[in-house]
Amino acid sequence: MSSQAATPVPEGTSPTSASDQPAMIEISGLNKWYGDFHVLRDIDLKVERGERIVICGPSGSGKSTLIRCINHLEEHQQGDIVVDGMHMTEDVKRIEQIRRHVGMVFQHFNLFPHLSVLENCCIAQTWVQRRPLREAEATAMEYLERVQIADQAHKYPGQLSGGQQQRVAIARALCLKPEVMLFDEPTSALDPEMIKEVLDVMVELARDGMTMLCVTHEMGFARTVADRVIFMDQGQIIEEAPPETFFSAPRSERTRLFLSQILGH
Ligand SMILES: Nc1ncnc2c1ncn2[C@@H]1O[C@H](COP(=O)(O)OP(=O)(O)OP(=O)(O)O)[C@@H](O)[C@H]1O
Ligand SMILES: [Mg+2]
Repeated sequence: MSSQAATPVPEGTSPTSASDQPAMIEISGLNKWYGDFHVLRDIDLKVERGERIVICGPSGSGKSTLIRCINHLEEHQQGDIVVDGMHMTEDVKRIEQIRRHVGMVFQHFNLFPHLSVLENCCIAQTWVQRRPLREAEATAMEYLERVQIADQAHKYPGQLSGGQQQRVAIARALCLKPEVMLFDEPTSALDPEMIKEVLDVMVELARDGMTMLCVTHEMGFARTVADRVIFMDQGQIIEEAPPETFFSAPRSERTRLFLSQILGH
C-alpha cells in the first residue's frame, strides 16, 4: 500500500468548532438496508467545519454507501443526516440544496467523455447554478490552474492520463464552491506514479481548510492530513481516533488485523 502523501499540513489549520455554527455534517442513528441486507448499522458521525476525516475498512464494509448517503446518492431508511444545518429529507428541493454544499469525487472520475475538460467543468455551473457561460469558464480556468491542468482545458478526458482526469474531476467539483468534499477512493484506480499528483491536490485542499471526508487506503495521506481516521467493518464504525493513536494503538482486534493486512505489504 502506498504512503506517498506530501508535506504535512501545518498546525493552525485544524478544525475550528465555532460554537455559533452547526457542525458541517451530523449523522445520527443512521441505518440502511439493501433489501434484507443491513448495510449501515447505527452510524453516528459528527464532522466539524474544516475537519478532515479518512474512512477505511475492508471491501464491502459500507464506506461508499455511507458517504453516498450524505448527498443522497443513496437513500437511508432510519436516522438523521444534517448537512450545514439542513436536514436531509426526501424533498427534491432540499436534496438539491444539500448537494450544492457537497462536492464528490469518484474512483472512476465520472467525467463526460464527449465534453472537453473545460466543458466538463462548466456544465453543472451553467445548467444547475445558471451561471453565465463566460463566468463559468473563468471559474473553471481558475480551478484548472489550481490543479495544474489548465493547459489541457481543450482536450477530451480520453486524451488525458488517469491522474490528470482525476484532477479535472476535483476541479469540476470545486467549481461549484462546495463547503465539503467527499472522496471515494480517488486514487485506487490510478497507476502508482499518478497517485501522488492527486494526493498533492488533496493535501492542498486540506491546507486551505476544506472540510473533507475521504474513503481511502492511502495511509500516508491519512497520517499527514487526517484529523480523525475512522475504521468501518460490516456496516459499523468500529473505531475512530486521531491518526497517531489509530496507527500506534488501535483498540479493536478487527482494526489491528486490517492494519496489519494493508500496512504489511
Ligand atoms: N445497490 C446495491 N444493492 C445491493 N447491495 C449493495 C448495493 N451497493 C452495495 N451493496 C452491498 O453493500 C455492501 C457495502 O457496499 P459498499 O460499496 O458501501 O462497500 P465499500 O466499503 O465501499 O467496499 P469497497 O472497498 O469494495 O468499495 C457490500 O456488501 C455490497 O455488496
Ligand atoms: Mg467503496
